[in-house]
Amino acid sequence: MIDIHTHILPQVDDGAKDIEESLTMLKNFEQCGITAVFATSHVAPNRGFNNTKATLINIFDTLQKRVQEAAINIKLYFGSEIDDHEKLEAIIASAPTMNNTNYVLLDFGMKKADIEDITYELKIRNIKTIVAHPERYTYLDIETIRRLKKQGVLFQVSAPHLIKHGRKASQKIAKQMLKEQLIDFVASDAHHANTMNNAMQKAYDVVKKKTSLEYAEKIFIKNAETYLINNEQ
Ligand SMILES: [Fe+2]
Repeated sequence: MIDIHTHILPQVDDGAKDIEESLTMLKNFEQCGITAVFATSHVAPNRGFNNTKATLINIFDTLQKRVQEAAINIKLYFGSEIDDHEKLEAIIASAPTMNNTNYVLLDFGMKKADIEDITYELKIRNIKTIVAHPERYTYLDIETIRRLKKQGVLFQVSAPHLIKHGRKASQKIAKQMLKEQLIDFVASDAHHANTMNNAMQKAYDVVKKKTSLEYAEKIFIKNAETYLINNEQ
């Protein structure tokens, strides 16, 4: 499986507190069948995370070296989770996109955002949006999700919400999205080494059981390969 949303880089946001924790998380992921991980640290000046491509790249390279030294069989990819949509275009220009493609992972936060307007503005600039955990935004209903999907917006649902963790309302939207196969990616959004590091494995089993092996492979592996690793349009 490929995990496209993690806070694996140490000491840059509210994720891994040091490189040892990063390595523990990756070892846990490896044991659960994860073969590739995107490091998507918060780029959120509004929350005090003033990360940019330039500030994150050395930390990413250091972690990659330590992963090789520790013989952890996981491929790392560089990315970010961009949270501040008020100054979005300027931020995107300096933030890491997903594996250097024109896909960006956007967190729209709990304050009501006009996701349709923002994603449209980006689309005409050839920037493609992956909405991080749409099931978390209380203002986003299933009708809007269906409409955004038709406009080409991609959706990343967080694994814990598919295995009965987190807010009930989020679980409900995640379940409906699964039923209608509106999910493009499932990811962990893991911040720390903990017992939830197996959430992807558990969610994969749920998705396979409730839909099909084919759809599970698509949203846990193939879409990430196609769009973000091989960058096929
Ligand atoms: Fe995140």
